[in-house]
Amino acid sequence: MTLDQLNTQSIGQLLPLLQGLYEHSDWIVEQTLARRPFKSFEAFKHGMIQTLQHAGESAWLTLIKAHPELTGKVAIQKTLTAESQSEQQKAGLANCTAEEYEALHSLNKAYQEKFNFPFIVAVRGPRGLGLTPQDIIQTMQRRLKNTRDFEVQEALQNIHRIVELRLHEKIDRKSPEGDLIWDWQEALAQYTETQDLNFKNLTVTYLSPAHKDCAEFIAERMRECGFDEVSQDAVGNVVGRYHAQDPKARYLMTGSHFDTVRNAGKYDGRLGIFCPMACVKTLFSKGVRLPFGLEVVAFAEEEGQRYAATFLASSALTGQFNPEWLAQEDKDGISMKEAMAAYGLNPDEIALIKRDTSQYLGFIEVHIEQGPVLYNQKRPLGLVTSINGSRRFIAHVQGVASHAGTTPMKLRHDAVGAIAELALFMEERALKDADSVATMGMLEVPNGSINVIAARAHFSMDIRAPNDAQRDAVVEDILNKIKEISERRQVEFKLTESLKISAAPCDTQLMKHWQAAIEDLGLEVFSLPSGAGHDAMKIHDIMPQAMLFVRGLNSGISHNPLESSSSDDMQLAFEAMMNFLMRFRPS
Ligand code: GLV
Ligand code: MN
Ligand code: MN
Repeated sequence: MTLDQLNTQSIGQLLPLLQGLYEHSDWIVEQTLARRPFKSFEAFKHGMIQTLQHAGESAWLTLIKAHPELTGKVAIQKTLTAESQSEQQKAGLANCTAEEYEALHSLNKAYQEKFNFPFIVAVRGPRGLGLTPQDIIQTMQRRLKNTRDFEVQEALQNIHRIVELRLHEKIDRKSPEGDLIWDWQEALAQYTETQDLNFKNLTVTYLSPAHKDCAEFIAERMRECGFDEVSQDAVGNVVGRYHAQDPKARYLMTGSHFDTVRNAGKYDGRLGIFCPMACVKTLFSKGVRLPFGLEVVAFAEEEGQRYAATFLASSALTGQFNPEWLAQEDKDGISMKEAMAAYGLNPDEIALIKRDTSQYLGFIEVHIEQGPVLYNQKRPLGLVTSINGSRRFIAHVQGVASHAGTTPMKLRHDAVGAIAELALFMEERALKDADSVATMGMLEVPNGSINVIAARAHFSMDIRAPNDAQRDAVVEDILNKIKEISERRQVEFKLTESLKISAAPCDTQLMKHWQAAIEDLGLEVFSLPSGAGHDAMKIHDIMPQAMLFVRGLNSGISHNPLESSSSDDMQLAFEAMMNFLMRFRPS
């Protein structure tokens, strides 16, 4: 079916073709068709989502209950619609082991009992190739813990995904570049510092062996894509350049990071490297040269995991690499300087990679949203308006060790008590603003004993807000609280500020290009700020920047192995980026 057909044929002609998109609920298609014309099938999809949204809870429940139980009684009796049956077969549910079958059955039963509707999951999964029975069992176990309201929404999310896949089959819509980008991320996730062979625990910190493997993988793929130059720079960034027609033309820079947090998702950062790589692959294969050069930077460090020097890779490009960072040590006492030497990098060359801004037109970055906004909005792409500013502290508190049984409560100088009080104050203070956040992500009592009052604790603080003044006000209140706690409890805090980065509003001109790129897909533009930090906010110091967000699944969870995104959404990100590149003209 073509878009023209969708917009011009009678509803009577179209309904048989679109039958079964929503399980036993063709009214959703019918009501949506009444609002034609649609600019694209993406817009039609969103139209159907809105139709259901407006229909309200009782319609949602009727739709949810119209779905078969996974491998349940209904499935065995073969009363599934043809679509449901083939989906369940694709997910490998026909071939599950007796134990898996049992587990699915008992989880199904528990789910039905708890929520009074069947468990619904898009069994073809984010890549469309099918979840394994194990994936489904784990998803069921996780979702069983949710509230009913949450599960109603989760069921609808999965239904819309099922419909998306069914529609794509009907219109023969493929996501070749989205699939490639997704597969690249999957392949890159094989490199991890941890020993978990099923890749579930992904950790890639700066200059680790896994980090080096990642850099080589990216460089190799860049060469295959048709980049004219691929190299690794003095801090380990992998830089690919696709030349313009005119060798003197300036460059548009894009990219994101390939280091990860500990036990990370597979998409944070990496999507923003592979998306432009797929664009270059396409441009090169078609022999297209742009009126500007494209520089894709796979940033080596953004997360601040191994060393406190966060954003060190982008700081090197802005000329803000602080040579004192080289003395920082990781948890094993290896200095950054030593790690660089072992990796084969020369710190003396770092100053040379500072970019000459007269050669650049700006910076754009594609990134998974890492939050629930697009997911809840049921929108695949979002236009970023600004990136929240942040400050980070590495700290410790010194109290006095003494006997847990004999020291009266009033005479203690307990490091843990002091930290506990501080952690709760951080929460309370951030909550006072609608959109500030404060996190104590690291907390350790070195050499603690069960019967000794803690003498010492190490901890971290990460404070963020949409603008610097708001962020600094939170920090000030926290520092005052620390002073108050230390006087009252007679403990000593020592703080080192490891990061202070300004909020970065995105450039209005570049945002307009992203906006048009999204509209070219027939999608409404939805704008949102970024709560997470990004390479773009450091590059912001020397050139205009603008970002595109891609929806994350599982309510947008990130910095967590459950981080996920579909290859179809990645295809849209690729297409939006291609639109951006084809529209963008140096002024
Ligand atoms: C980067 O992921 C951050 O901490 O926002
Ligand atoms: Mn991250
Ligand atoms: Mn990131």
